[in-house]
Amino acid sequence: MSKLFIGTNTKMYKTIAQTKIFLQRLGEQTADLSRDEMELFVIPSYTALESAGPICRNGGIRLGAQNMNWEDEGQFTGEISPVMLKETGVEIAELGHSERRHVLGETDAEINRKVLAAFKHGLTPLLCIGETKEQKELGIADEILRIQLKAGLNGVAQVPAPFYVAYEPVWAIGVNGEPATEGYAQEKHAVIRETLVNLFGERGRSVPVLYGGSVNPENAKPLIRMPHVNGLFIGRSAWDADRFNGIIREVLPIALSKTMA
Ligand code: PGA
Repeated sequence: MSKLFIGTNTKMYKTIAQTKIFLQRLGEQTADLSRDEMELFVIPSYTALESAGPICRNGGIRLGAQNMNWEDEGQFTGEISPVMLKETGVEIAELGHSERRHVLGETDAEINRKVLAAFKHGLTPLLCIGETKEQKELGIADEILRIQLKAGLNGVAQVPAPFYVAYEPVWAIGVNGEPATEGYAQEKHAVIRETLVNLFGERGRSVPVLYGGSVNPENAKPLIRMPHVNGLFIGRSAWDADRFNGIIREVLPIALSKTMA
């Protein structure tokens, strides 16, 4: 049986109080859904992490952080280390989100150091990759995805522990984004899967690959039907717990009926 991987990153939205209300409601709304069949995660702002920890544990929600530094401690003003994240109950480290790559200038080499640090500390890396509009138009999207995967996972010899990949085409993300069609997403997910198998052999088949970028209640079902799409990583459409719960209920039976590819 397959499993659904589904989560949201609340970006620089939601205060501590708003995050707590959101998580509480999401936990209640999805309480009847088996966590053996679904991995549900939420990635709130740093300031909300500590109070989010217990609510997530009670609600069957895995907690993630939106970024982290690769060092345990040091002279890195404004940065947060894996040790500090673990203290708050964080289990997932979201690394290389497009806003961090393209707005804040993160490089593949830095993201790679973070991936290795996440593994070292027993955090699940959620490695985000995706081509820009320009790269898509130049016809080099596949190459970009391979580069981001190979560079981001450099030095990871085996699949040492669980990790996720999120395919998020930059042109599809956010208020000005245009969602990828399910056919396009499927094609790119196939490239990602092939690259993971090249890197890790058969174990590369067990890495969940999630699609993100303007997922909404209308396109969630066609996307999850695609054989290579193992889950969804949602922004705006998941920030209302009831709406998110609605999407989860639509896609869960479809995900469970598929075998992982
Ligand atoms: P969006 O965000 O669903 O609002 O486009 C996706 C993301 O940035 O992960």
